[in-house]
Amino acid sequence: MANFSFPESFLWGAATAAHQVEGNNINSESWVLEHLPGTIYAEPSGDACDAYHRYAEDIALLASLGFNAYRFSVEWARIEPEEGEFSFAALEHYRRVLTTCHEHGLKPVVTYHHFTSPRWLMRCGGWVDAKTPDRFARYCERVTRHLGDLMSAACTLNEPNLALVLEKLLPFAFQELPWWATAAEAFGVAPDRLGLFQFNVSPQAHQVIQRAHRQAVEAIKSGPGDFPVGLTLALVDVQAAAGGEMQAAEYRRAMHDGYLEQLRGDDFVGVQTYSRMLVGPEGRIAPPAGAELNQMGDEYYPEALGGTIRHAARVAGIPVLVTENGLASTDDTRRVEYFRRALRCVADCLQEDIDVRGYFCWSALDNFEWNSGYRPKFGIIAVDRETQQRTPKPSAAWLGAVARANRL
Ligand code: BGC
Repeated sequence: MANFSFPESFLWGAATAAHQVEGNNINSESWVLEHLPGTIYAEPSGDACDAYHRYAEDIALLASLGFNAYRFSVEWARIEPEEGEFSFAALEHYRRVLTTCHEHGLKPVVTYHHFTSPRWLMRCGGWVDAKTPDRFARYCERVTRHLGDLMSAACTLNEPNLALVLEKLLPFAFQELPWWATAAEAFGVAPDRLGLFQFNVSPQAHQVIQRAHRQAVEAIKSGPGDFPVGLTLALVDVQAAAGGEMQAAEYRRAMHDGYLEQLRGDDFVGVQTYSRMLVGPEGRIAPPAGAELNQMGDEYYPEALGGTIRHAARVAGIPVLVTENGLASTDDTRRVEYFRRALRCVADCLQEDIDVRGYFCWSALDNFEWNSGYRPKFGIIAVDRETQQRTPKPSAAWLGAVARANRL
């Protein structure tokens, strides 16, 4: 298949998340977690990429590279720093970000919640508390009222299934670490009431989160603007090794399908994929001997994107937007190759008549990779940690050229 043309309305972009790039997100629960004694975070987020102030430069740069869209998140902890107290200034800030996108011809794809929550929410039990869907819907209503007329698409929640994926990936459970008890104490709740979005695996948390999504969709749909609304999921391409078919199906069910099945009726599902997982009769097995690994320790396997797009489209039965895909590596030539092979999979899916609406690489910038700190390099644009100077890598030029041509 030489020279594949993507659909005319195809979205091409790069993605970021507020906490990972803005800097000084001090009212968020993550800021607290990063500074706890015995924290699991390698380093604090600090100034991050100072994108709260440098967003215009970043947006102009992405547009000049050839993209037509930008996925970013608005930060609940800034917009509602105390319960019920909304910051007009923060909402106006994000209005300027969205306006700047339009001025540069980038369609804003806005995530309302990308992992971080306000500190006050954790003091109420966070994502295990039965009132949180109402709280989240109220926040979504305020954001949409202020910004909805400028949005091109919205994601309610980012990767609400991440904790369920980590449970299968990691050899330990977060709630058994001493850090969990320290964190609970910091927010003044019992350990079983520590409602951390990224780490809580309890069925109660996932009921609260699924209700929050439903109520958020309703709140966003009843505000100004007319744009598709969905959520994004962390999807691993689960592949059965010899004899592992039943186990692999069980892994898919536990990590993905519980969420995918709830999405029927949404406008799209955001597919976020980085690698594959091999599952044998005894469970997860290591990557093949000698396999190339990324900086996160996972297998270099761009074809994972094809497997997860097909799985998501089949189970959810709705259009797909690739809201994150990319590589953590200091070798940018491997990133170009990763994009090339992943996009080949997107082209194959389109040829199979799967409705894929766009592709967003993770990430626009080298940024704060949560508990791994600043070491992993996912960006197509390097950021000097001293000066905050941005330098596009060859992969930025490569992907931007594909975007501009709308052709592979
Ligand atoms: C998240 C991002 C994260 C990326 C790379 C996704 O799980 O949405 O915030 O940086 O993967 O690990």
